[in-house]
Amino acid sequence: MANSLVLCHLFMILYTPQNNKMHADDSLDYHVLVIGSGGAGVRAAIEASAYGDVILVSKTILGKGGCTPMAEGGYNAVLREQDSCGIHFEDTMKGGAYLNDTELVRILVAESPQRMDDLIRWGAVFDFTEANEVAQRPFGGQRFPRTCYAGDRTGHEIMTTLLERLESLSVDTLAETTVIDLLKEGDRVIGALAFDDSGEVVLIKADSTILATGGGTRVFDISTNSASGTGDGFASGYRAGAELIDMEMIQFHPTGAVYPTDARGRLVTEAVRGEGGILTNTLGERFMKQYDPERMELSTRDVVARAIATEILNGRGTENGGIYLDVTHLPRKQIETQLPVMLEQFLKFGVDIRKEPMEVGPTAHHVMGGLRISPWCQTTLLGLFACGEVAGGVHGANRLGGNALADTQVFGKRAGEAAGRSEKRIKKIDSKQIKIQEERFSRFYDGKVNPPIITKQLQKAMWDGAGIFRNATDLQATLAKVMQLSESNLRAISQRNLLECCTVQNMCLTASLICKSALLRPESRGAHVRTDVCLSHDAQHSPFSHTYVSRNRQGIERTAFV
Ligand code: FUM
Repeated sequence: MANSLVLCHLFMILYTPQNNKMHADDSLDYHVLVIGSGGAGVRAAIEASAYGDVILVSKTILGKGGCTPMAEGGYNAVLREQDSCGIHFEDTMKGGAYLNDTELVRILVAESPQRMDDLIRWGAVFDFTEANEVAQRPFGGQRFPRTCYAGDRTGHEIMTTLLERLESLSVDTLAETTVIDLLKEGDRVIGALAFDDSGEVVLIKADSTILATGGGTRVFDISTNSASGTGDGFASGYRAGAELIDMEMIQFHPTGAVYPTDARGRLVTEAVRGEGGILTNTLGERFMKQYDPERMELSTRDVVARAIATEILNGRGTENGGIYLDVTHLPRKQIETQLPVMLEQFLKFGVDIRKEPMEVGPTAHHVMGGLRISPWCQTTLLGLFACGEVAGGVHGANRLGGNALADTQVFGKRAGEAAGRSEKRIKKIDSKQIKIQEERFSRFYDGKVNPPIITKQLQKAMWDGAGIFRNATDLQATLAKVMQLSESNLRAISQRNLLECCTVQNMCLTASLICKSALLRPESRGAHVRTDVCLSHDAQHSPFSHTYVSRNRQGIERTAFV
């Protein structure tokens, strides 16, 4: 049985301004520490539990944060004879503008069907055809309809299944506990320092640590991410010395809600287009004809998002700053059974999608870049593994819809297995690291600026200067603004606010990595469009490969095409 730890009675290390000491000796000690309770983290914990004691730390209530439960549309897997891993590989590489790590893509497409089998064996209820096969729908950029689904709540179904499986295993869990930084002994990561749900600090030692913290598109003003998408994993990995690649590659999902204001950015699943939804501008034109006449609405997300942004910029958008996504021509029954969440969500906004079109616009959705990993999810730091959205390389310059859920399961399992297999060792926390954090917290208590003020400024700066269309001048100005914000003298009035201050610093650091990487790539490719550079090559023959950033070095790799 998974055990939820109540730390206050066990290993609590109280930190208050009055008693501002943490003790390196008062720590938990595990074989594997998993940070993050989305699809990748839970899958990793399930796998690692076969090798030793495992603790899973979740920033939110278990399974409620992260993107997996919000992922609506589906999971890509090759399941039919007419389809093949070769085609899935090619679609993924082409969709990713050939920036993907080919080995990681090979693994993704080869193992995704087996991980789908695991989910079904553990009780996941996917939609089935009348012939009793897993149903699959078309998604953008794929030559075969290979996206498996549970209506339009696929991620929720997967998450529920994984949590039930986790519950049956002996994994300790710490919910509403946020990792502040990774702990190191020399060059090796040996665990993490976290705040628990009452704002107290806990030290967790581990032979291996898995980062499965998801993405960070909350650094943009309009985003599909839940409040937890603040880039904590990118930031803590970077601070610990890990190398990150392709951080400029931010996916703007073409269709997010544009109103009401408090729902702005919320995901309107690609499944709407997969089911036959069409995009029109205010002149009634099905504008995808101009941008990708062959694939139309089922072009890749980078192309569709740019098309929508262009229509809006050229004055063919709605008053609310969107365009129309229309399913009124589809049979009512199809909408009700295949898109029930969309139907319900829009009814709440006062729109019956069976009778009138939705209004949608691009929204920051996914970070394709992240920590550089090996095929077994080893980062560039000993003792540290990464899987899911926090890891880079699988999706290249643009992810295909449906490949993220598959990624969580394929690389979650691999990370759990590799971390589980690692050697058990005696670990000693260096008290200097604790002192650095104590001093950091003391500064927050003496600070002046409320964190939400900085968050708002950061999100606006990133949306305006590092969004769908970019140029060097704007990126430099945005980076300067981000650096200035990251120097803010943040203020905590209680222990709980310490976490808010740390989160804002993570957001600023993540945003700075995005801007720096965007400046490092002097080409337009996939989701990264530089309006200030002229191209003399196509993506497949680009002279550039990954951008990389770490505390020691930054740059862009070159390919053989010069
Ligand atoms: O549109 C969607 O349902 C999102 C799917 C994904 O990001 O893979």
